[in-house]
Amino acid sequence: MQIPDFEEIASVDEFDLADRIEVFLEDTPILLIQVNDQYFAIEDVCTHDGQPLTDGSIEEGEIVCPRHGARFDISTGKALCLPATKAIQTFEVEVRGRKIFARAKTITD
Ligand code: FES
Repeated sequence: MQIPDFEEIASVDEFDLADRIEVFLEDTPILLIQVNDQYFAIEDVCTHDGQPLTDGSIEEGEIVCPRHGARFDISTGKALCLPATKAIQTFEVEVRGRKIFARAKTITD
C-alpha cells in the first residue's frame, strides 16, 4: 500500500478567530479542528446520511452531527453512537512552522 504524501491545507493563523475551518484535500471536504493547540482533521461528511459536520458541537474529543445527533471521535473517526455505524475518514496532521499539512489515515472501524 502506498502512503500518501502530506499536503499543505491551512495556516495556524486561520485559527485566530475560529476553532475550525473547512478545507479540501484533493477533492475531499475536510473539517480541520483545533482543540487545546492540537489539530484534528476529519472528513466533513457524516456517514449516516451525508450531512456536513461543519457546525457540529465539539465536546471532549467528539463531534456531534447537527442533523440526527451521531457522535464521532475526532481523533480516530470512530462512530460512537447511532444512527451512524461507520467511522468517518480521519487525516494525519502535521504542523511545520505556521503551516498545517495533512494526509489520509486508514479507517480504524
Ligand atoms: S446525517 Fe448525521 S446523524 Fe444523520
